Amino acid sequence: RLAFATRSKSVATMAASQEFTGNLKREVEKLFDASLRITVPDGTSVETEVAASLPGKPGDYQCNNAMGLWSVIKGKGTQFRGPPAVGQAISKNLPASEMVETCSVAGPGFVNLVLSSKWMAKSIEKMLIDGIDTWAPTLPVKRAVVDFSSPNIAKEMHVGHLRSTIIGDTLARMLEYSKVEILRRNHVGDWGTQFGMLLEYLFEKFPDTESVTETAIGDLQTFYKKSKTKFDEDPDFKEKAQKAVVRLQGGDPIYRKAWAKICEISRTEFAKVYQRLKVELEEKGESFYNPYIANVIGELDSKGLIEESEGARVIFLEGFNIPLMVVKSDGGFKYASTDLTALWYRLNEEKAEWIVYVTDVGQQQHFNMFFKAARKAGWLPDSDKTYPRVDHVGFGLVLGDDGKRFRTRSSDVVRLVDLLDEAKTRSKTALIERGKDKEWTPEELDQTAEAVGYGAVKYADLKNNRLTNYTFNFDQMLSDKGNTAVYLLYAHARICSIIRKSGKDIDKLKKTEKLALDHPEERALGLHLLRFAETVEEACSNLLPNVLCHYLYDLSERYTSFYSIHQVIGSPEEASRLLLCEATAVVMRKCFHLLGITPVYKI
Ligand code: ARG
Repeated sequence: RLAFATRSKSVATMAASQEFTGNLKREVEKLFDASLRITVPDGTSVETEVAASLPGKPGDYQCNNAMGLWSVIKGKGTQFRGPPAVGQAISKNLPASEMVETCSVAGPGFVNLVLSSKWMAKSIEKMLIDGIDTWAPTLPVKRAVVDFSSPNIAKEMHVGHLRSTIIGDTLARMLEYSKVEILRRNHVGDWGTQFGMLLEYLFEKFPDTESVTETAIGDLQTFYKKSKTKFDEDPDFKEKAQKAVVRLQGGDPIYRKAWAKICEISRTEFAKVYQRLKVELEEKGESFYNPYIANVIGELDSKGLIEESEGARVIFLEGFNIPLMVVKSDGGFKYASTDLTALWYRLNEEKAEWIVYVTDVGQQQHFNMFFKAARKAGWLPDSDKTYPRVDHVGFGLVLGDDGKRFRTRSSDVVRLVDLLDEAKTRSKTALIERGKDKEWTPEELDQTAEAVGYGAVKYADLKNNRLTNYTFNFDQMLSDKGNTAVYLLYAHARICSIIRKSGKDIDKLKKTEKLALDHPEERALGLHLLRFAETVEEACSNLLPNVLCHYLYDLSERYTSFYSIHQVIGSPEEASRLLLCEATAVVMRKCFHLLGITPVYKI
């Protein structure tokens, strides 16, 4: 909210920065800001209201301040005679700018701004030379933590972890593009009570734990299941297992060593999935925070937050009907104790200003509770959008075709690796059906199958609002029609092939030729390209990857509208249109990159 207390005429001559800084909406806002500074009477406080115009409406952006402003000033001796007159003044006071083609008033005072096609073209030309990173948004934080993937040791990574991995990676990539330093944290569950039985079972099966290798243990999940069965059936074993946890957490070197071994085996398995998905993460599991827990709880205690309840130590929080348990009656720590400690560490040791947690919505209460405890402790501001800021990025379930929780025919949990294998195999088969095995080298075929298959799995997840459940369906996600990665990757490859077929050196064209956006379809495509960075910024601020997917799909639709009407190769406008093709390909590739999808160049 800006209070325009002093009117300065000099603003009228202040042409807003005409060099495109990446955020088109903000550029337009700056212009209207300047205009409102002159138009608004002294002492009136208003917020500049600018929105992109809906398709089919006049203008590219609209300023909607006239009506609101009128209702504030009417009857107070104003020189204006109604909202349209206020709108006229806003329009008239707009600083001269090469960005603007026309500015006019419609209806009850909507101020419509048409951008100059020349300026738009110039801004795109500049991006082609300087690179798309020059369009990157600037966010109000320097360093952030994205806590994602975070599977549990010895338990298989399931589709829920797939969602966390895919969504978290995309958020990290978008924030990184926005110049935020990102600490990608894998908060693996490596310290839970399951270790008691795992360790006891390991000692029984392999008295010489030194020699235990990955292959000896075999499938760690089966190992986990067997130890669990024994735990449930054999009271002797159960007792030993419970003691084992205490010894492990107490730091017994033999138990620690065996524990480390199990973690190592799990880690190798996880790493295979990350490598396939091309996701980078740094593991700082629950155990990492163990040395700090006691101090953190001590701090909370000294602030008077902790109370005794039935032998346990808890924090009572307003608005929740259960307290947050931080120390169990047996002295053990809980999931929340570790999360509070990790938060303390991230704020104080790692100096992160924004911490984002990606898990299923089922954990929402856990996050709300320990966030609230942290606010109570004064670690975080009271308002949730001010920094240092924390966000729980929740997501819904993955469903099968039957509308129930996704399972395969044979097993109860879907193994992530099997899903990825199948996606790849299916896309390879589709490529072979199209005769690509005869055109390409086996490596090319394999790489394309991977890019398309894994891309399809990621995109099918990301394109939905993350909070909704979505149905996992290979046929749908691998279709080359509709809003799928396959369709988008092919669209990109086709653009690349047009550029190749033209036989022109595109890097040379960038330097020597001009882009013109004379036809409506060219202009609409150009405008959409210029909206890329503001879209990324919106996706970052709301932590919604689907916003970017939507943009990407729109982009390819706009490209299709352009390409289906206008000839590129051999037309008098060839050079300009090749530049437009190239700019579209550049923006598409950046979208793919931010979504963690590998682009393909031929199809
Ligand atoms: N390991 C947990 C799970 O598999 C997710 C951990 C999420 N991160 C956190 N800081 N709590 O459900």
